[in-house]
Amino acid sequence: MAKLWGGRFRKATDKKVDDFNSSIRFDQRMYRQDIRGSIAHATMLGRQGIIDKSDADAIVAELKNILKDIENGKAEFLIDAEDIHMNIEKMLIDRIGDAGKRLHTGRSRNDQVALDIRMYLIDEMAELSAMLAETMATFVELAKKHTDTIMPGYTHLQKAQPVTLAHHLMAYYEMFRRDYERLCQCRARTNIMPLGSGALAGTTYPLDRGYVAQMLGFSDVTANSLDGVSDRDFVIELAGCLSIIMMHASRFSEELILWSSGEFSFVEMDDAYSTGSSIMPQKKNPDVAELIRGKTGRVYGDLMGLLTMMKGIPLAYNKDMQEDKEQIFDSIDNVKMCLPVFCDMIRTMKVNTSKMYEGAQGGFTNATDAADYLVKKGLPFRDAHSVIGNMVFYCIENNKAITDLTMDEMRSFSDMIEEDIYEAVSLEACVNGRAVTGGPSKLMTQSAIERAEEYLDKISNGKDA
Ligand code: ARG
Repeated sequence: MAKLWGGRFRKATDKKVDDFNSSIRFDQRMYRQDIRGSIAHATMLGRQGIIDKSDADAIVAELKNILKDIENGKAEFLIDAEDIHMNIEKMLIDRIGDAGKRLHTGRSRNDQVALDIRMYLIDEMAELSAMLAETMATFVELAKKHTDTIMPGYTHLQKAQPVTLAHHLMAYYEMFRRDYERLCQCRARTNIMPLGSGALAGTTYPLDRGYVAQMLGFSDVTANSLDGVSDRDFVIELAGCLSIIMMHASRFSEELILWSSGEFSFVEMDDAYSTGSSIMPQKKNPDVAELIRGKTGRVYGDLMGLLTMMKGIPLAYNKDMQEDKEQIFDSIDNVKMCLPVFCDMIRTMKVNTSKMYEGAQGGFTNATDAADYLVKKGLPFRDAHSVIGNMVFYCIENNKAITDLTMDEMRSFSDMIEEDIYEAVSLEACVNGRAVTGGPSKLMTQSAIERAEEYLDKISNGKDA
């Protein structure tokens, strides 16, 4: 096939180089954006009198036909037409001749690809945002059912202080809310229109960049032509957002893996979200959670690949940048695959509330509250810490919980201790006494849930965070 850029060449491209160079395999998914961009560009060219209005009309009409044909599987993409941009331009020229040849006036593939990838990512970000909203809602829904479900909170994976499952789940709500905001901010920075940057140094044609931006829904135009074609910050930023989303999903997945082990038994995954073993008949494995944890590494890999690909590129466009696509597409595909199963897995799992309660009873999770009890009776905190430390040591030696101690045993550690200590160090008192803003008390958690529901309401009406 003759290349659209073949004039300067006397030999055909080597077949292996065609295969090597070609990105149509993976960039064909941007056909909608490419056509939308070309329609805006052609319309603007006609409006500015850069090409005849009749040519502009013919281009726009045929691009719409091409879109339909691609959508109906009637268009064929050619490897040696290199990429989606030249495949579509070639189809156009084959169909309408000279008018089609005028489309690329005042445009380069360098600003064209920058435009297409921005538009593509903006469209994907809208879907990702919706999935994140769904993820947040999943955590809130489950939290609502578990404001009274006491469980041990951990630091260093050692039992620390009692919390509720609702409080734990609402921590993840916060993470995904930040992810949602990050994505909105990333989208705003991506939503800048690069067409008019040309190959690198703009163009001599009197393009109306603002009009194109407006037609395509961009909020502004890029400010520097060299930057316009060679900036991929927004791709890396999105890969960063996706990595953080996966990191959060992976942390909860890891917790579910631990919690569904026989040692914890805090949750049981639904049969539909677990798999068996080919040899061990008794096994029920949390594969979905493990795969989410595993795919996180792959999304990080995409981020590293993108950062590394960009780090040595002199201005402006270089072909290395074609490598941005497979990596960001892979990240997007994986996050879009993970989030819905992540939500379903959480929605369907069984929570073993009594195991959680039992877990909170062991490990002296109320020791801080015992110390605080003495502080409220007037002892300085450091002294109280030491008294209760001795009490815990005694309990461990005698295989008892703090609440198992008799009044006499209690008072051997401090004569400030009275009958009311039993109530003060009950798990319920430990949790509900933590009524500080952001704390796990039932009231605080309920107000956190209310705020979350308001937020979800706001964003479901299409408002940015
Ligand atoms: N397929 C190319 C890419 O994805 C399009 C831009 C090509 N420009 C060029 N001068 N070779 O980056």
